[in-house]
Amino acid sequence: MYKIAVAGTGYVGLVAGVTFSEMGHQVTCVDINEEKVALMKTGVSPIYEEGLEELMQKNYFLDRLSYTTDYNAAYKDADAIFIGVGTPERADGSADLTHIATVARQIAESIKKDCLVVVKSTVPVGTNDKVEQFIQDFLVNDVQVEVASNPEFLAQGSAVHDTLQADRFIIGTESDWARDILMGIYEPFGRPIVCVNRRSAEMIKYASNDFLALKISYMNDIANLCELVGADIQDVAEGMSFDDRIGGKFLNAGIGYGGSCFPKDTKALTSLARENGYELRTVQSAISVNDDQKTKLYKEANKRLITFNGLKVAVLGLTFKPGTDDLREAASLVNVPLLLEQGADIFAYDPVGASNFAKRYPEGRSGKGAITYVSNIEQALDDANVCFIFTEWNEVKVVVPDRYKELMRTPLVYDGRNIYDVKEMEAAGVEYHSVGRRS
Ligand code: UGA
Repeated sequence: MYKIAVAGTGYVGLVAGVTFSEMGHQVTCVDINEEKVALMKTGVSPIYEEGLEELMQKNYFLDRLSYTTDYNAAYKDADAIFIGVGTPERADGSADLTHIATVARQIAESIKKDCLVVVKSTVPVGTNDKVEQFIQDFLVNDVQVEVASNPEFLAQGSAVHDTLQADRFIIGTESDWARDILMGIYEPFGRPIVCVNRRSAEMIKYASNDFLALKISYMNDIANLCELVGADIQDVAEGMSFDDRIGGKFLNAGIGYGGSCFPKDTKALTSLARENGYELRTVQSAISVNDDQKTKLYKEANKRLITFNGLKVAVLGLTFKPGTDDLREAASLVNVPLLLEQGADIFAYDPVGASNFAKRYPEGRSGKGAITYVSNIEQALDDANVCFIFTEWNEVKVVVPDRYKELMRTPLVYDGRNIYDVKEMEAAGVEYHSVGRRS
């Protein structure tokens, strides 16, 4: 078993640290935020992830997991230090590596024995070569240090499951020594491990995420065409899914992909390509389809209603997907301001994301319009002129078609997640618009 330190307790770092401890390794999670560290010590997770708190409490109790702001103490005698800090997007689409550099400097100044530094954060191909050089330049003690790439593939909302049941772990190393340590850390998970060189590992992460983004944008493109020629995207997707070469996952058309990863990683890879004198046209197209897709239903509704001024608009779902309170790049963030600009009176419902959303759009008047957050869907629908569905929460899915007809002033629904059966909505007397299906 290994002594591991993990820098950063966001989705990537915390889930990695907690699952390593679950495998029996001795783990210290490091974060500069004292409040967060104090919270985690009480067994409370700063992020909403199914199963995470239970594992945090269990392994903390077993003394295999600890939290600290004291990076020096955590790093000095670790066998491996995992970096899981954020790599936000810069204005030009490239990845901002400031946090990685800060941690790399702290590592260089702290370590007192040979140590493997493992970068889990998503970084442009070639970055880890630079991180290794950077650490070596700032090393204080006479120790060996090597950097490995070990990208993360968990999805928010299913992070613990995605790690414990990972499809594969990717290990990108430049020496047998580094590979053996990482193999030793990951073998207890009992999942497939793929060993490649460092740059390939970095590329696998981007290529995987961007492929999934391409898949979604492709389905959205086909969905838009389905509408024009009278086909149904859900039937088309089902038919496609039986082909093993295509597979059944990530074929859902809708309001476009959001979140902190696909939008950022598609832009980062096209930007990396451009820096290298190459235009990554496939991924560029995925980005442009996605941008248009986010406002597609808004535009359709705008055409149908002429103006939203003074209308009561029900918005169901604010987060970029269910199972998370994350709003990054969510369709709601594009559509709500457009609706407010036109003077809409929005009643928004989200089971976990409303308070985050209210930080950006506080309850009350906002520009020409107004926004109210409600804790039950019926309040949002009551007397509404139009309803938008942006997230496929189970709480939304269980609302039966008749309720839209009964509660709304005019039962007009724009569903960005295709959660209802078109015929059932029509039979209930609802004017129902979705993506890529007859309406
Ligand atoms: C994504 C990847 O799925 C993870 O494998 C990866 O590790 C992660 O990025 C990352 O790089 O950290 P995540 O962004 O949490 O995970 O969420 P996804 O479940 O992939 O969904 C992303 C977006 O695509 C959501 O807005 C979702 O609604 C949308 N989506 C997904 C569709 O529109 N259609 C689909 O068929 C699937």
